[in-house]
Amino acid sequence: MPLLGFGVYQIDDAKECERSVSDALEVGYRSIDTAAAYNNELAVGNAIKNSGIPRNDLFLTTKIWVSDTGYERTLRAFERSIKKLQTDYLDLFLIHQPYGDVYGSWRAMEELNRKGMVKAIGISNFQTDRVIDLIIHNTITPAVNQIETHPFNQQIEAQKFLQENKVQVESWGPFAEGRNNLFTNELLVSIAKKYDKSVAQVTLRWLIQIGIVVIPKTVHKQRMIENLLVFDFEISPEDMSKIVRLDTKTSSFFDHRDPEMVKRLSGYVLPE
Ligand SMILES: NC(=O)c1ccc[n+]([C@@H]2O[C@H](COP(=O)([O-])OP(=O)(O)OC[C@H]3O[C@@H](n4cnc5c(N)ncnc54)[C@H](OP(=O)(O)O)[C@@H]3O)[C@@H](O)[C@H]2O)c1
Repeated sequence: MPLLGFGVYQIDDAKECERSVSDALEVGYRSIDTAAAYNNELAVGNAIKNSGIPRNDLFLTTKIWVSDTGYERTLRAFERSIKKLQTDYLDLFLIHQPYGDVYGSWRAMEELNRKGMVKAIGISNFQTDRVIDLIIHNTITPAVNQIETHPFNQQIEAQKFLQENKVQVESWGPFAEGRNNLFTNELLVSIAKKYDKSVAQVTLRWLIQIGIVVIPKTVHKQRMIENLLVFDFEISPEDMSKIVRLDTKTSSFFDHRDPEMVKRLSGYVLPE
């Protein structure tokens, strides 16, 4: 899969989403990350269709929501997603949250994978105990676990475990959505100055150098270009180890194991 893609979470307005994905494709992104729960698959599909880019040059990811878990529901959710995305296959299909009947979903996803309708299947927001349980009790190992990963929550232990189990880590929120003042962080600013790059570029480059796939989101074309320009420099081992010091080993958002969050996210039901 491409090391760097484009995320469309919180681009809620259909016109803005379509314009953003069109801009992203125009400036060179070929991997797009969406989800049924983002309510923008149709806009993503429209932008892809209008781009004229051959489908097999693109890497398209979507996710099934909690209310669509279970064998039958997952098959129906897949059909709804590919219809909106205006495609006949997905490159990567993820279980969005580790809640609900994820085992039923996984059996449906294994089937879609075997039939070639989904090139790879994976998970998101799964803690390591849930990952290994899924691996042990099923046939196909998840190709990817998409988890919150950025300088303030580096997921070092999780990444080691996932690498050992051949699961690729994909970062969501590579900039922590700007939380904890990431873009003005003193250390990141000083490293960025040294390489004549921006904090965003240093952050993405750092993630890529530690073997993590990134899918930054922006609605600004100039930033889309900026976020792509991370393959023409290398952060030294010394600077890489300085960034490790920013790790708080804690989510900047919420704990997926918090029962209140399980309730809240499970209470969000997508229309069939
Ligand atoms: N699986 C999950 O549960 C999950 C959860 C969250 C996200 N995701 C995926 O991961 C993707 C990325 O995460 P995210 O969207 O939450 O957050 P993010 O990429 O960490 O941060 C996006 C924020 O950073 C700003 N930004 C982007 N590039 C910038 C730059 N070069 N300079 C300054 N500011 C910049 C954006 O502002 P502007 O748009 O105004 O430029 C936006 O406010 C999502 O879009 C989604 O596809 C998955």
